[in-house]
Amino acid sequence: MPYPEEGLPHQVTIYEVGPRDGLQNESAIVPVEVKAEFIDRLADAGHKVIEATSFVHPKWVPQLADAGELLGRLHRRPGVRYPVLVPNERGLDRALDLGVDEIAVFASATETFAAKNLNRSLESQFEMFEPVVARALDNGIKVRAYVSMCFGDPWEGPTPIGQVVAVGERLLGLGCYQLSLGDTIGVGTPGHVTALIDAFRRPERLAVHFHDTYGQALANTLAALRAGVTTVDASTGGIGGCPYAESATGNLATEDLVWMLRGLGIETGLDLGKLVSTSTWLAELLGRPSPSRVVQALSKG
Ligand code: HMG
Ligand code: MG
Repeated sequence: MPYPEEGLPHQVTIYEVGPRDGLQNESAIVPVEVKAEFIDRLADAGHKVIEATSFVHPKWVPQLADAGELLGRLHRRPGVRYPVLVPNERGLDRALDLGVDEIAVFASATETFAAKNLNRSLESQFEMFEPVVARALDNGIKVRAYVSMCFGDPWEGPTPIGQVVAVGERLLGLGCYQLSLGDTIGVGTPGHVTALIDAFRRPERLAVHFHDTYGQALANTLAALRAGVTTVDASTGGIGGCPYAESATGNLATEDLVWMLRGLGIETGLDLGKLVSTSTWLAELLGRPSPSRVVQALSKG
C-alpha cells in the first residue's frame, strides 16, 4: 500500500548506469557476452534508458575496452535508449562509426579530479567537450552532461556550490539536454543536495547521481525529488565506482530506489523481482554479494 507525499513527482525516470559505472570499476574484466546479457536483462525488467558503456581511452578504463564489440552485440529494443560516455572527439568518432544516437560527456567540478580523470585542467576540460557537443548536436545526437565531485573531492575537501553551478551551467549552455550532478565519493547530505539544486534554479534540467559510500544516497534522492528533480541515476545491484576516485563505491542501487519510490506511489515502470534476480545472477558471476539492502532482503526467499 503506497503512502504518497504531497509535492513529489508522480513519475520518476531511472537512468540505469550499472553496465557503465558499475562494470567500469570491476577489478576483473567481465566478458562481453555477460555485459550484453546484463543489458538485455535490464531492458527486460523495464528499463528505458541504460548507459551501456564508455568510449574512453582503453588504457584508462580497460574494463570497458570492448565498447565497440558490446554495441554490436546489443539486442536493441524499441523505446529503450542506450547512451554511452564520450570524453573527446576521438571517442565521438568511435561512437559515430557505430551509429550511437545518444552520448554523455563528463566534467569535473574540481581541479584535481579534472587532472586525474581527464588529464585536463578545470578550464581546459571545456576545450575537449565543446567540439564533442557541437559535432554531436550537428549529427542529431542527444547529449547529456555529468559533473563529478559536486559535494566534495578527496583531495580538495568540500566543493563550493558556486563552483559546481559555474561548471554545470557552462555544460548546459553548450546544448546538453540534462545535467547529472555526481556525488562521486558519496559525501553529500540532504541539506547540501537541496542547496545545490536550488542554486541551479532549474531542477527540470537536472538529474542526480549518488554513490552510496556513506549510506546517504536514498536520503539524498528524497531531498532531490522534493527539490523538483525527476531523473535519478542508479545501478542495478548497487555495483559501481570510479577507478580514478579510490573512495568511490557503488551507486545508489536501483532496487533500493524502486522500493522507496513504490512506497511513495511513484511510477517507475520497473519490475523489482526481475531486477533482483538480475542482481543475484550478476553477483554470482562477480563472486560477491550485491551491496543493495533490498536485493539482500528479497533474495533470501
Ligand atoms: P589523454 O592521454 O590526455 O589523451 O587522455 P590525448 O587526447 O592526449 O590522446 C592520447 C592518445 O590516446 C592518442 O593516441 C589518442 O588517439 C588516444 P595516439 O595519437 O597517441 O596514438 N585516445 C583515445 N583512444 C580511444 N578512445 C578515446 C581516446 N582519446 C584519446 N576516447 C582522456 C584523455 C580523456 C582520453 C583520458 O583521460 C580518459 O580516457 N579518461 C576517462 C576516465 C574515465 O573513463 N573515468 C570514469 C568515468 S567518469 C565517472 O565515472 C564519474 C561519473 O560516474 C559521475 C560521478 O560519479 O560523478 C560519470
Ligand atoms: Mg558515477
